[in-house]
Amino acid sequence: MAKIKRIGVLTGGGDCPGLNAVIRAVTKAAISEYGIEVVGILDGFEGLVEERVRVLSYLSVSGILQQGGTILGTSNKANPFRWPMEINGKLVYQDMSDDAVAVYEKLGLDALVVIGGDGTLSIANRLMQKGVNIVGVPKTIDNDIVGTDITFGFNSAYTCAAEAIDRLHTTAQSHHRVMIIEVMGRYAGWIALYSGMAAGGDIILIPEIPYELEKVCEVVKFRGSKGKQFSIIVVAEGAKSKDGDLVVQEVDQTRTDPLRLGGIGHKLAHEIEERTDIECRVTVLGHLQRGGTPTPFDRVLATRFGYAALDLVMKGDFGKMVALQGNTIVPFPIEELADKTKFVPLDDPMIQAGKQIGVSFGV
Ligand code: F6P
Repeated sequence: MAKIKRIGVLTGGGDCPGLNAVIRAVTKAAISEYGIEVVGILDGFEGLVEERVRVLSYLSVSGILQQGGTILGTSNKANPFRWPMEINGKLVYQDMSDDAVAVYEKLGLDALVVIGGDGTLSIANRLMQKGVNIVGVPKTIDNDIVGTDITFGFNSAYTCAAEAIDRLHTTAQSHHRVMIIEVMGRYAGWIALYSGMAAGGDIILIPEIPYELEKVCEVVKFRGSKGKQFSIIVVAEGAKSKDGDLVVQEVDQTRTDPLRLGGIGHKLAHEIEERTDIECRVTVLGHLQRGGTPTPFDRVLATRFGYAALDLVMKGDFGKMVALQGNTIVPFPIEELADKTKFVPLDDPMIQAGKQIGVSFGV
């Protein structure tokens, strides 16, 4: 096995709290424990194709543990296999993966640590087939990557959402309103479920359980009849009614996932007001839940992931992503992630607990 002397690290896809903690752990351990060089690739795969990089020193990753976002920059549009280009005024897609591999070789990299979600890791899997030595680190606030119990970023996101719901409670109570909070999560309901449960949401709507509008209205009215003249509804951006469709804000074919979700909160508010005559207000939490400082839980998990990823690199165990299973970090084959989403199982203990304490899931 070739000796590892120089590695690259990149962050791809949407940012999330904890990315810097991984970069810091990989870089510090690489320099101090193994004496190898670390090259930061800027803006995800974009920087690999365009050869935009910066060498990371021990000092350059000092003091970034608490910082949200990523010091390397990221992009959820940069796919070397489907590179958008304007030719004669027309948008066309080209395969630039050979350029990405050429830059990897030109930089003298022995391996690449790719920190990303399912889209980024699927691209990494294809680059691996072209000879790039890859180790993956799963990241996303959505917690929807298969193979790992938890991704870092998720804890920070649902903590932020739970704090927001706490604030909505007091104003909902004062004005006897229905407060709807729309949270992120794409096609999985983890953020809605955990924040809703943590902050005492009355109705939690997740993509895995298509809801019945009549049932939602019934719960709101029933609470009113029992003296609870307000309700908190936590709705995941990917939730939909039994007979409805996903609510989409924008379709952008240049993105790894062309659908930008959002709008279900307002749709729901309109429908509830129409049927119940109870005033509704909507809060779309948006990128607040993705930005800002990572929670200590996420800093710890991200640091463990970073160190474990470097360990796989040094062992030459490529093609794996580090994954948390129980309290142990294990290697998980990246190729097994392809086109899979870790949905909330219908028998998830959190759903069972919610049902038992009177939370409605809209059915
Ligand atoms: O995957 C993370 C995530 O924050 C989703 O929850 C959300 O749907 C999406 O990214 C938003 O992406 P952006 O605003 O960066 O296009």
